Amino acid sequence: MRIILIGYGVVGQGLTSILQRRHAETVKDYGFNPKIVAVVDKGGAAISPRGLTLEKLQAFKKNGSIATNPEFGHPKMTAIEAIESVEAEVVVEATSTNVKNAEPALSYITKAFKTGKHVVTTNKGPLALAMPALTELAEYNHVYLRFSGTVGGGTPMLEFAKRCLAGDKILAIKGILNGTTNYILTEMAEKHISFQQALDSAQKLGYAETDPSMDVDGIDTACKVVIMANWIMNKKLTLKDVNIKGIRDVSLKALDEAAKKGNTIKLIGSIDGDKPTVAPTEISKRDPLCVSGVLNAVTFVSQFAGEETLIGRGAGGMETASAVLRDLLDIRHKLATKLLT
Ligand SMILES: NC(=O)c1ccc[n+]([C@@H]2O[C@H](COP(=O)([O-])OP(=O)(O)OC[C@H]3O[C@@H](n4cnc5c(N)ncnc54)[C@H](OP(=O)(O)O)[C@@H]3O)[C@@H](O)[C@H]2O)c1
Repeated sequence: MRIILIGYGVVGQGLTSILQRRHAETVKDYGFNPKIVAVVDKGGAAISPRGLTLEKLQAFKKNGSIATNPEFGHPKMTAIEAIESVEAEVVVEATSTNVKNAEPALSYITKAFKTGKHVVTTNKGPLALAMPALTELAEYNHVYLRFSGTVGGGTPMLEFAKRCLAGDKILAIKGILNGTTNYILTEMAEKHISFQQALDSAQKLGYAETDPSMDVDGIDTACKVVIMANWIMNKKLTLKDVNIKGIRDVSLKALDEAAKKGNTIKLIGSIDGDKPTVAPTEISKRDPLCVSGVLNAVTFVSQFAGEETLIGRGAGGMETASAVLRDLLDIRHKLATKLLT
């Protein structure tokens, strides 16, 4: 499988590392022999039909861009040009999230489809804004679109519901889907500090961005609700369908009142029937969903299996890269079984 990797940040570098470290096992256990034939960042591209190694990429990324590599580098080559000109089966899209118009990732994904390439993305933007159209376009072009890393980091939340609960009817989904807000609310409740103090601490530890609005205003959680509802419950939602309230107004007084009842307040993203919602919600401290720190958790309520809760780290370069590897294996498996039938 030849791969074009767009975006060489935390996730992109995690992926090259994991593919290299797991190479012997993926070949032996799955007959899967991936090769990264092109990598693109903002400075340009590095291209090698024989495959690019982690060492070669890392050495030149230190200079600012992988395109500075004199042997493989193509300074100023854009992702669109790379997708059009490099022969490959899959594009892994791992550029920065944009929830205003999903660009440039949206154009990269559609270009990949139109040139007959499967896509694995970790980017919530295109899915939150245009998932129904993208899944249709993938089908029309007979290619696969996979996005495990967009929800739950490495925790297989999408696959668990889609595969392990296959056949059952998922009636509702509710979850703590954003580690930053969970850290802030946990710190406020446990250390009795203000929202601003907890946010400062999250920023110092690198859990929150300088502009924390994607997280604290509930947008990141809402993107994940859209992806889960569409993929698992066959809805056709976009971000504008979600009722969103973030955590800026959660007060210490409200947390104290909740604690008196054995409860606490968490930012819960949920879909129950046709109502996708993100809001600070009081839940029992004994609810399995009630995880602390940066952990994520999701509860699936299904008609016959009942309630199941999955807990795990919801972000991180290697964690998310492991979800990408899972998606690549899934595509490889689908292609192999298609060839057999
Ligand atoms: N990090 C996580 O834990 C995590 C977890 C789940 C999902 N995600 C999602 O995965 C995606 C990547 O995350 P990340 O943490 O790896 O981000 P990151 O470290 O900021 O890396 C983003 C990469 O995209 C590249 N890029 C941006 N615009 C580009 C363009 N127009 N053309 C080519 N390359 C471009 C950047 O190039 P330069 O290097 O030249 O700046 C950089 O290499 C994001 O959408 C994020 O939301 C991340």
